[in-house]
Amino acid sequence: MDKLVIEGGVPLTGGIDISGSKNAALPILFSCILLSESCTINNVPNLRDIHTTIRLLNMLGCSCFYEEHCVHVQPGALVPEAPYDLVRTMRASVLCLGPLLSRLGKARVALPGGCAIGARPVDQHLKGLELMGASFQLEGGYILGHCRRLKGTHVSFDMPTVGGTENLLMAASLAEGETVLENAAREPEIVDLANFLCACGANITGHGTSVIRIQGVTSLHHAQYAVMPDRIEAGTFIVAAGITGGELLLRNCPFHELEAVVRKLRSMGMEISATPVGVLARCTGPMRATDVRTQPFPGFPTDMQAQIMALMCLAEGASVVEESIFENRFMHVLELMRMGAQIKVSGHTAMVRGVRQLTGAPVMASDLRASASLVLAGLAARGVTDVRRIYHLDRGYEQIEHKLTAVGARIRRVQE
Ligand code: UD1
Repeated sequence: MDKLVIEGGVPLTGGIDISGSKNAALPILFSCILLSESCTINNVPNLRDIHTTIRLLNMLGCSCFYEEHCVHVQPGALVPEAPYDLVRTMRASVLCLGPLLSRLGKARVALPGGCAIGARPVDQHLKGLELMGASFQLEGGYILGHCRRLKGTHVSFDMPTVGGTENLLMAASLAEGETVLENAAREPEIVDLANFLCACGANITGHGTSVIRIQGVTSLHHAQYAVMPDRIEAGTFIVAAGITGGELLLRNCPFHELEAVVRKLRSMGMEISATPVGVLARCTGPMRATDVRTQPFPGFPTDMQAQIMALMCLAEGASVVEESIFENRFMHVLELMRMGAQIKVSGHTAMVRGVRQLTGAPVMASDLRASASLVLAGLAARGVTDVRRIYHLDRGYEQIEHKLTAVGARIRRVQE
């Protein structure tokens, strides 16, 4: 198993290219199940979750292969079964449910279990598909779904769910008549998925708002599409500039999609500006404490909570973090405390009292964004930090150690 060894204390300076968004690429790849013609998707990050999705798509009969940030997809005879072995490694696999029901009228998809950051049920996905005419049974840990052609209807989600909105958006694209999704999630990755489907001939309006209207069409055709850049990767590198007292230019950075993050980081003392060549992020003075509550987009993203907490550990004063999306998403806290951070957790709230210095220590990554926060803390800490279990990091950050080395970080991957 690989680990990252970081010698902290170097202010990072230079330019970094932001990769394509993992969370936009995954639903776009699953939506290829809906297509009757070939397609090419560009700017796909080279990540473990992407390769898991490609393996699953090939098992489902949708043949595709990865070549230099590009996925070529060729439709084939579909098979309705997504096996547990793949689904358990990536919860987003449940996104094949809507497209399979839409194309085949049946699907057998392993029920994704809980994960490190909470229970993460899929009841809203199933409720929406049921309203469209599907029926489900649970058998041996698998969701068995059946339907005739799905029918357009009104679906009102109990909470804005990103995956639920995506599953329904895909299913409704080939359904009969109009589907209206109310209380839909507004994340930019949903807008990217809808834009891809529209490029293939789908009829969707309202994406990016909480009411999305989809007029079903009978087939979807060829398209060439480039995935949006990754706002969470970009946000993580902005924090890297702040926590090391450096200056980074982020090329291909989705600035507008980062508004809530930029606002918070500016209030902590960072200078962040959009320039014609990219987003410039720097830190010239001490950081100040702030308070953060995670919320659905356009609020502060839960996927940036662990990273901003690393910065709060070194800010002057006391910060409060409230996690309102997922239970159990403070697993980075104990590891940060092993590096000298002062944090108290009570339920969904963490109180962070800034310290002058973190010190390097062996730490254990527990999930994707928790891993990023430990890398950030390691970049700022005095001494050497070993971040173990970095397979989590490899699910979501493309070549992180190479990107960081290029801007001056002393970081290397070591096989244990
Ligand atoms: C997606 C992102 C993930 C991000 C999250 C919230 C991908 C691959 N993953 O995850 O990185 O952290 O959005 O921005 O894009 N819920 C239910 N029932 C459901 C569905 C969701 O109760 O049927 C709850 C969840 O437990 C959670 C909340 O709704 O508390 C939001 O979850 P959701 O937006 O669905 O997250 P994901 O799509 O799993």
